[in-house]
Amino acid sequence: MKTHHLAKQNSILNKFLAELRDVSIQKDSMRFRRNIERIGEVLAYELSKELNYETKEITTPLGTKKGELPANNIVLCSILRAGLPLHNGMLNYFDDVENAFISAYRHHPNNDEEFEIVVEYFASPSIDGKTLLLVDPMLATGRSMVEVYEGIKKYGTPKEIIIASVIGSVEGVEYVAKHLPESTTLWIADIDEKLNDKGYIVPGLGDAGDLAYGAKL
Ligand code: URA
Repeated sequence: MKTHHLAKQNSILNKFLAELRDVSIQKDSMRFRRNIERIGEVLAYELSKELNYETKEITTPLGTKKGELPANNIVLCSILRAGLPLHNGMLNYFDDVENAFISAYRHHPNNDEEFEIVVEYFASPSIDGKTLLLVDPMLATGRSMVEVYEGIKKYGTPKEIIIASVIGSVEGVEYVAKHLPESTTLWIADIDEKLNDKGYIVPGLGDAGDLAYGAKL
């Protein structure tokens, strides 16, 4: 898997990331959602550099001009619910793509440390021969991403898979690299060193879903 780790290069992205992580700023849920969305826009722009392009002639009021325009048939797929602001950010740039939504949650039958990923709700177009753009703000263990990939296979075989994420753990990135096709490309804002015993990214930012939409039962 080819990984593009964007925070390694200085850019305005690092300010958005710092605001997401900062306990005194992240409490403002509107800013939190908007910062995830802004990172979605940055990720969309960056990964657009490696899409396929085709030449089109554009007619202006004064003449014509040839332009190189993205040619991929993208299906943008997000995991509910934490994925929604990131999905919106990417959709701000990839405004005419198809969309898929899948629910995945951690089920803890015995204790806080052990959990299984339950994937339930699927709303997806065919992904056959298309570019599957899987987005998840937190690539913690990587297990949700892999479960979603396994589940969405019933909608066809994608031509290529691109993953976009805000913060991942080293372990999560390795897990995804091991279980998704080798040709997969990952675009990620930042990668943190570890997971705690509950599978949260450290230092990370906490629970992205709760910060964006409030605590759940
Ligand atoms: N999901 C989150 O929101 N945060 C983590 O650190 C891990 C999973």
